[in-house]
Amino acid sequence: MERIGAAMVGTGFMGRVHVEALRRAGVDVRGILGSSPDKSRAAAKQLGLPRAYTSLGELLADREVQSVHIGTPNKLHGAQVRAALAAGKHVLCEKPLALTSAESSDLVALARKHPQQAAGVNYNMRYYPLCLEARARVRGGALGRVFHIAGSYVQDWLLRETDYNWRVLEAEGGALRAVADIGTHWLDLVHAITGLEVEELCADLHTVHPVRKRPKGEVETFKRGQAAETEAVAIGTEDYGAVLLRFAGGARGTLWVSQVTAGRKNCLRLEVAGEHRALSWESERPNELWLGARDEPNALLLKDPALLSPLAARSAEQPGGHNEGYADTFKQLFRDFYGYIAAGDFSAPPPFPTFADGHREMRLCDAILASHRQGGWVQLNGGEA
Ligand SMILES: NC(=O)c1ccc[n+]([C@@H]2O[C@H](COP(=O)([O-])OP(=O)(O)OC[C@H]3O[C@@H](n4cnc5c(N)ncnc54)[C@H](O)[C@@H]3O)[C@@H](O)[C@H]2O)c1
Repeated sequence: MERIGAAMVGTGFMGRVHVEALRRAGVDVRGILGSSPDKSRAAAKQLGLPRAYTSLGELLADREVQSVHIGTPNKLHGAQVRAALAAGKHVLCEKPLALTSAESSDLVALARKHPQQAAGVNYNMRYYPLCLEARARVRGGALGRVFHIAGSYVQDWLLRETDYNWRVLEAEGGALRAVADIGTHWLDLVHAITGLEVEELCADLHTVHPVRKRPKGEVETFKRGQAAETEAVAIGTEDYGAVLLRFAGGARGTLWVSQVTAGRKNCLRLEVAGEHRALSWESERPNELWLGARDEPNALLLKDPALLSPLAARSAEQPGGHNEGYADTFKQLFRDFYGYIAAGDFSAPPPFPTFADGHREMRLCDAILASHRQGGWVQLNGGEA
């Protein structure tokens, strides 16, 4: 692949993961931008990057940068995406794409006005090899008609009222938190595997900690430790959510999300039941795919490129028994993104999650919030931006 220059916006959890994965995908990372020049410098030094930018304008003016990765708090995504597209750069934005579906709809329309620039959203869970295997089997008809899909995305890092991150504030992360932050990964994955669109949903949300203790100073994602000084802050975003789903064609779904379940570190679980077979996968054991059957023994498929469909084998780079995980999903998504750019045919369907996918998730978030507030079923009208 012709080498393309990328730059990273955001120096936190995602900043590090993106930069490492970009390098492993063969992309030159030219520099990084943080929330202050000091943060940019510290991150550039730690990650061994040539440039520490002092502003987004300086980053976008760098002629060696063709592509911008956005890994900042959600409230900044919209403006940063707009600026990067206007500067002629390809954009890969972290999820959720925007704070509302009105904003994500605008971004979809804007991306269409820049047809020679790739625009993606980092729904990386799709790229676990065994999620791709599940996709190949479900879409290939091995399960038959899908009856229902059940699952969850559950974490424990916000378990206590002393746990704090920008995400808990509506102004920083959006009106929905657990659903938007992790639930949309599950919803995107279900769509990627089954191709089914949600037609109606019914949601119940709950804020376990209506007041949290905010440390004075910035807190990065998944960083723990008791701050010496805290202040009480009212929290409106949910720690827990349960969503009933009705898909086009009649399949049913159940999703629950929680960021307050002790011991579940980062656990996405998914079970698809079809008329012939079922399958089940979970992110904390990502190299195993459970295959259920009624008239023969169930099977556990271990990730081994020699045993996978061509779609999944492409993303399984190590031989069987050599586990692949979270960081590898970023590398695989970036390979698709930069492979598409290098191929140069922007009329071809993008193989990576697009702004349209990001917008689908925002529409689902809006419907989930509306359903919770109204206390009943809400319909999604069509899928258009
Ligand atoms: N795909 C995934 O698996 C995944 C995982 C975690 C987070 N995310 C998403 O990534 C984004 C970032 O989350 P995170 O967990 O890395 O958060 P984080 O708090 O660890 O990092 C955010 C970084 O953005 C920096 N920042 C703030 N304002 C900035 C500005 N104006 N310019 C440049 N940098 C600025 C902060 O200093 C911080 O370093 C969020 O949208 C989140 O939803 C995705």
